[in-house]
Amino acid sequence: MPLAEIEKNLEHWVHEVFAVTSFLELEKLKAELLGRAGVVTSAFKLMKDASAIEKKSMGERLNKVKSELENAFSLQRKKLEDYEITERLKGETLDVTLPVSCDRFGGLHIISYAMRRIRNHYLARGFRVSDGPEIETEFFNFDALNTPRHHPARQSQDTFYIEGTNGVLLRTQTSSVQIRTLQKHGIPVRMISIGKTYRNDALDATHSPMFHQVECLIADRSPISLGHLKSELRKFLQFFFETDDVSMRFRSSFFPFTEPSVEVDCRCMKKNGQLIITEKGDKWLELGGAGMVHPNVFRNSGITGDAYGFAFGFGLERLVMLKNGITDIRNLFDTDQRWLQHYEC
Ligand code: DAH
Repeated sequence: MPLAEIEKNLEHWVHEVFAVTSFLELEKLKAELLGRAGVVTSAFKLMKDASAIEKKSMGERLNKVKSELENAFSLQRKKLEDYEITERLKGETLDVTLPVSCDRFGGLHIISYAMRRIRNHYLARGFRVSDGPEIETEFFNFDALNTPRHHPARQSQDTFYIEGTNGVLLRTQTSSVQIRTLQKHGIPVRMISIGKTYRNDALDATHSPMFHQVECLIADRSPISLGHLKSELRKFLQFFFETDDVSMRFRSSFFPFTEPSVEVDCRCMKKNGQLIITEKGDKWLELGGAGMVHPNVFRNSGITGDAYGFAFGFGLERLVMLKNGITDIRNLFDTDQRWLQHYEC
């Protein structure tokens, strides 16, 4: 198309661009005008036969047309994008004033469900299910657990202290319930406790300032060994993951309230992009801490005489995420109805 005609058509084309209502149409029109075989690009190709002076002025005129068209396309693209976002938001609007529909009664959050399952399992096995306060004292959260004031382990857990109090804090671990239970019921005892714990951690895909722990303590007057701990842990994993196909290992570790202390790992492998627990796994995944109860813990809980025991503590979110192929802990605490409905139990 000759240059003069192109210039004459410019206004009409710009109008056409602004009249487009979909991304598909926009791309089509852009290809017709500015694409490799488009009108404007073809006009550039015609310049090769013109004289040097003509080339310069034609080039300038064509570039002007090209940039006006490009400008129009980018404005219209932005307009379509804005429109799409507004429409999507409109569709997602939640009218909180609408009456509650009674055809759906909701379900249990996946974390609540896991808590109930674990609780019922241990109740059925004759365990005591203990609770402790989330607002704790340093005594139960640290001192009695053999973690005195200047112990490095005390600094390694970023604790939320309650302002204006003398060492009142949000518990960093459910191990505090071990002390409360030992104090109250003495031994022998078989206890499980599940509850919220808090640490001053930034929220990201794997950390949350609030999370749940599952704590287990078995203590007796007669000897209890690491073998008992291993067997109990295996039972827990088999029950929780609903499979006998588990293989675990102990790695030597340190917790002030257990001696020896171990980190419990479990064999796993990636299948279709998802981690699964299996004996055939080629990777080890860390699940939590465990160990034989330190004599000071018994002493600090007022227990005298022979006392033996083991304990373990796992992060509940981590277990639930693993079992259900959830990769971001934040999803568990979001209020996205679609996600909640998908995972409700
Ligand atoms: N309380 C520990 C933590 O939060 C986990 C733990 C380790 C619990 C060893 C235990 C235990 O009962 O024996 O990191």
